[in-house]
Amino acid sequence: MRETQGKTVQVSPLGDDLAFLDIVTEWDYGSAYHDWKASIVVPPTFLPGALPRVIAISNQKGGAGKTTTALELAMALVARGLRVRIIDADPQEASLSVWLQFFYPEGVPADERKHLTHLYFDQSVTLQEITYATPYEGLYFVPSFPDLEDVETKHPTGTETALQYHLSKPDDDIDVTIIDCGPGLGPLTVSALVAAHDVIIPVQAASGLDARGAAALNRTITSVQGRLNTELRVAAVVLTDFEKSGLARQIGGKLAKAYPNAVILPARTSVRIGEAQLARKPLRVFAAGVTTVLDYDRGASVLFVTGARA
Ligand SMILES: Nc1ncnc2c1ncn2[C@@H]1O[C@H](COP(=O)(O)OP(=O)(O)O)[C@@H](O)[C@H]1O
Ligand SMILES: [Mg+2]
Repeated sequence: MRETQGKTVQVSPLGDDLAFLDIVTEWDYGSAYHDWKASIVVPPTFLPGALPRVIAISNQKGGAGKTTTALELAMALVARGLRVRIIDADPQEASLSVWLQFFYPEGVPADERKHLTHLYFDQSVTLQEITYATPYEGLYFVPSFPDLEDVETKHPTGTETALQYHLSKPDDDIDVTIIDCGPGLGPLTVSALVAAHDVIIPVQAASGLDARGAAALNRTITSVQGRLNTELRVAAVVLTDFEKSGLARQIGGKLAKAYPNAVILPARTSVRIGEAQLARKPLRVFAAGVTTVLDYDRGASVLFVTGARA
């Protein structure tokens, strides 16, 4: 792993006296609308995942909240003392690099700056080599580059199993690897699903299109489960940009039915997300007590053994 900066910021745990959502065992379909409130659904069949763990964050729809989920979940885990690596597997956006104020170590010439594309095309590159420190203690980052698209078009030998190959020999003390997938269900996303133990699906809580995207993703997940990764499971559906509405309730209910063994996690809406992006900071660092941060924090504790159902 490579250091990019000397000093790192420690991320603090949150207090317990904040407006966390209740944790319940099933989606509330029946109560009157004015009694209904957002809650985190943890089905009795759900078991939190053991460490080390690989999580793919996926939905073929852009703007579903994948990158936000990847980052804020990672920050919540880092605050619990875990060592977390985020892999940026989206060739189209540099949003994660911006949020993490990522830059290459000083003195490395441009043509030697290694990133995820090299892992697919060059058999001699290791995951450790392209894993960089970030400004946050315990958080590591594998950057992307626009030429990552070549993986989709040129499809180098072993594309689908490349990430799995590297992630199945955890020799760098990373507890959780979170793969932020791009939109689309091509070879890159398939390679993330093959490498992952869990998939987390973010869906805009009030977007019917996102919910349809989640259905298409389900077909891809099923085909990966069939041959390439029989152990893969959908661990959670995150209802992003969540606000109480009849539509959000209906979409959440549909997804809870479609994924009966998954945690359903509302991530409440906040204008501070955009402000945090402008300030180039994860939301958890920019505005720790914001409801969205609380939701990812509770989500992190139900999804992993560490601190699970505390
Ligand atoms: N809980 C939330 N509340 C308000 N806005 C959100 C929330 N989650 C995500 N967003 C916004 O939605 C947009 C898309 O999110 P992003 O994570 O980039 O999606 P994706 O990675 O799926 O394309 C961003 O502008 C982000 O700020
Ligand atoms: Mg994204």
